[in-house]
Amino acid sequence: MNKQELKKWVSSQPKVELHLHIEGSLEPELMIELAEKHNVKLPYKSIEEVRAAYNFQDLQSFLDLYYLGASVLIDEDDFYQLMWCYLCQCKADNVVHAEIMFDPQTHTERGIDFSIFMAGFKRAMDQAKQEWGQSCLLIMSFLRHLSEKSAIDTLEAATPHLGDIVAVGLDSAEMGNPPEKFSKVFEIAKNLGLKRVAHAGEEGPPSYVWGALNTLNVHRIDHGVRSIEDPNLIKFLVSSQHPLTVCPLSNTKLKVFEHMHQHNILELLKLGLLVTVNADDPSYFGGYLNDNYHALIDNLPIDQVQLKQLLKNGFYASFLPEKKVDFWLQKLQ
Ligand code: ADE
Ligand code: ZN
Repeated sequence: MNKQELKKWVSSQPKVELHLHIEGSLEPELMIELAEKHNVKLPYKSIEEVRAAYNFQDLQSFLDLYYLGASVLIDEDDFYQLMWCYLCQCKADNVVHAEIMFDPQTHTERGIDFSIFMAGFKRAMDQAKQEWGQSCLLIMSFLRHLSEKSAIDTLEAATPHLGDIVAVGLDSAEMGNPPEKFSKVFEIAKNLGLKRVAHAGEEGPPSYVWGALNTLNVHRIDHGVRSIEDPNLIKFLVSSQHPLTVCPLSNTKLKVFEHMHQHNILELLKLGLLVTVNADDPSYFGGYLNDNYHALIDNLPIDQVQLKQLLKNGFYASFLPEKKVDFWLQKLQ
């Protein structure tokens, strides 16, 4: 198959998405519409100006705009619309199952209650399930630049909603905020029966990946591309098969790799790690899940066998029950 055929084929296959921040799927059109609706002042006059601002030097320069963008999300309908747009994109991309992160503190710190965003998310998720059988679940992520006390308070505030939340995660500014800072809250989450994931080894060193594995007892590492710098960590990840949720377009937009042809996902795959492909913050990084696969096809010497392994890995790495995983693996051509 040539590159064009590979892109068409991968687009048609059932996929899962395991690393997606719902706030990072806020498209400039909706951002401007909601800013007008709520009279929120943004430093942009047009959709074009919003897009032009998406030129990042590193993770922090992105996070500054990401939190600014999220400030237009205020009432239940805003959160419904945000989730609905993403789920419609899942349908378009053949994403049959999505494990979707949200950042409660980004909203509660602005005085928006859990019940508001959870109701909006749930309404969209229920509707997508009813209309086309969309499968999805929620991961509540703690902001690591805030204190562990704030994360513990957030987990407590989430108590009435824990039936709708499958896992906790850890995101935001990685450097200087190692996983160990959140050992207590992850222990509480574990005892509540919640699964655990954490961003690590995106900008941070391999020791942060070790910390997420050993101290936070995570099921998956979000990003983890810097694991390659530690041969003992690679050996461990190959034998443990802890998944890495890799986000190619994100990594190049945030300059983890200068160019896509320098991305190490194929190397990690060849070494035997359980790597998966994901979009992270698609509105900010230039594309949804199929776009991420297409970027790999355009820039790396990736073949159909390797693409199929990445697709399969997504299902293996998911929190889907075994029966569902088997069902979807049989659908892969
Ligand atoms: N929050 C949203 N996207 C993120 C990323 N790529 N890394 C850390 N925190 C994030
Ligand atoms: Zn992320």
